[in-house]
Order: sequence, then structure tokens, then C-alpha cells
Amino acid sequence: MSEKIKIAFFDAKDYDIASFDEVNKEGMYKIKYYDTKLTEDTVRLAKGYDVVCVFVNDSVNEKVINSLAKKGVKLVALRCAGFNNVDVEKAAGKIGVVRVPAYSPYAVAEHAMSLLLTSVRRIHKAYIRTKDFNFSLNGLMGFDLHGKTVGVVGTGKIGRVFIDICKGFGMNVIAYDKFPVKDADYEYVDLKEIWKRSDIISFHCPLTEETYHMVDAKSIKSMKKGVVLLNTSRGALIDAEALLDGIRKRHIGAACLDVYEEEADVFFEDRSGHIMEDDVLARLISMPNVIVTSHQAFLTNEALINIANTTLSNISEYLNTGKCDNEVTVG
Ligand code: NAI
Repeated sequence: MSEKIKIAFFDAKDYDIASFDEVNKEGMYKIKYYDTKLTEDTVRLAKGYDVVCVFVNDSVNEKVINSLAKKGVKLVALRCAGFNNVDVEKAAGKIGVVRVPAYSPYAVAEHAMSLLLTSVRRIHKAYIRTKDFNFSLNGLMGFDLHGKTVGVVGTGKIGRVFIDICKGFGMNVIAYDKFPVKDADYEYVDLKEIWKRSDIISFHCPLTEETYHMVDAKSIKSMKKGVVLLNTSRGALIDAEALLDGIRKRHIGAACLDVYEEEADVFFEDRSGHIMEDDVLARLISMPNVIVTSHQAFLTNEALINIANTTLSNISEYLNTGKCDNEVTVG
């Protein structure tokens, strides 16, 4: 392609614009940043562009795909790893889909460990207390991670970095993966064992039909009393109402959530000063043993520059050759 590639960039935040402009400083791509998400209502904004660049909460369903293809858009470039928000089957033969399979597994795994440490050492409480010159230790009792059993669900790039971090803390690691890696230096067990034996469970598998609500009332019941759940993967792995119920019943000891199943309407936005319509999220946030971050695990300098680099080279590769190593295909 001799002309500049035109990209309609949806759900653009200041940090996205900074990293993409940095990588595109020679101006090879013409990027139009929209702060709105891509939906059936906003798809008209893609007219005249070669590519739409989208993130986790843009909705690329069948209607959006058909409309994009009709407008001559050739590619959906996800600037993230997960692609559960794109109907890949419906895209096949109409429009290409590429993603960024890895940008910094360290960013996400380190965030998961930050959440765990914050939770078990009550740092979120202590921080607020000492800001108010309250130096009391009452209610801040934690527990050692050393010697505890952590169950890791999904041993891909992020899961394996998280496992290494846990090993550094002297934890016993057990893991479940639909496709276990060979020669692992940790024990693979089935999901039932994960639920039964883990003091802490961390989720690093994709959201699929199979993993949807893998944490529900039934699985929670079979977990250890006091279990700590960490979700930095996708919200819908956990049935949020069942989680809330497990917390209310004091069965779940703590939950650290970087993702939430209904996050699309609230996460990434400043909703302070608004009435929180989502009662489940409001109740979860009100719990002393729940920490919520707003899908923040990926947000490091290193990750953002890697995302911009890979996304733009995916786009060039696909538009110039009709294929790309990071293409998302059916199956
Ligand atoms: P990956 O593709 O390297 O690893 C995923 C692992 O899950 C693979 O080993 C795969 O075999 C396994 N898996 C697939 N189906 C499974 C099932 N039914 N049960 C158990 N395991 C299964 O992906 P990566 O890079 O490690 O990312 C993991 C997830 O983290 C992504 O799917 C994404 O949803 C999430 N993520 C979240 C971010 C955040 O900011 N919170 C940022 C990046 C990724």
C-alpha cells in the first residue's frame, strides 16, 4: 500500500494516544482517535478507514462486522490479547482480525501478586488509616504466603510468570490447564483438586464457553473455607452473584478482581459522583475483603509501548500481505 493506512481507533484514552503517537512519530499511519467505544451505534464512524483498532470492551458482534465489511474496512486490530468480544466466526471471510498475543505477561502477573499482597497484608486498609494518623493495628492481621498452596488456572504466558513469582515466595504451586505444558516444574491437577486444595486461586485462562462462570455456587462450595480468589483474566470466569454470596457466607476469605463480568459500562471511566446502578458491584466494592482494580493489570509503560508496536506492525503486515502471524482465526 503506498497511501497511508487509515485507522479508526475506538475507546481511546490519553495513555493509548501517547503510546501510539510515540510509536507512530514518523506519521506512517493516519490515526483518528475516538473516545467512544465501537458498537452498533458508533460503527458509522469507521466509514472511510482501512482498519478499526479496538480494545476489550468494544463490541464487535455480527452486526458490527457486517457493517464494517460493507464500509470497506478490511481489518479489526485488537490492541489486547483476549478476543472474546469479537465474533470471530462471523468475521471469517469478511474481515481480518488480529491481536497482540503478548505484550508484557510480567505486567499482569505482577499486578496479580500486588493484589494478593495488598489483600493478605491489609495494605489497602493501612494506607487509609495512616493517612488519617490512625496507627492502630487492630483488624490488620495478615497471613504468610510462604508455604501456602496456590492454584493457578491457565498456565500460558501470564500464568507461568505468576507461578515463578509465587515460587519466589516459597508457595506450593498446583495448576490446571486444558493443554498442560510438558516438563513443568509444578504439579498439574484437575479443577476439582484446584478447588479443594488451594488457599489462593488465580485465574489466567481465556474466557470461552467452557470457562464461563467456572467459579459458581457449586465450585465455591467445594473450595477451602477462607480461600482468596484472584481474577486478572476476564470477569465472566466468575459468577459475581455467587461470589458475593460466598463472601457474605464467610466462605470466601477475600477476592481481588481486576476484571468484572459487567465491567463494560463502568470500568475505564470516572464514575465518581454518579449513582452506581450495578448493585452487585457496589456491594462487592463495599466489602472489606474485596479489592477491585479497573482492568488495570496491563497498564505499564513497557506493555503500552509493546502493544502499540505490535498493533501497528500487525496492521501493516495484514494489509500488505493479506496475512499475519497474529491473526485470530476460527477454531
Ligand atoms: P495464553 O494464551 O498464553 O494462556 C492461556 C492459557 O489458558 C493457555 O495455556 C491455555 O491452554 C489455557 N486454557 C485454554 N482453555 C482453558 C480452559 N478451558 N481451562 C483452563 N485453561 C485453559 O494467554 P495469556 O497471555 O497468559 O493471557 C491469559 C488471559 O489473561 C487472557 O485470556 C486475557 O483474558 C487475560 N488478560 C488480562 C489482562 C488484564 O489487563 N487484566 C491483560 C492481558 C491478558
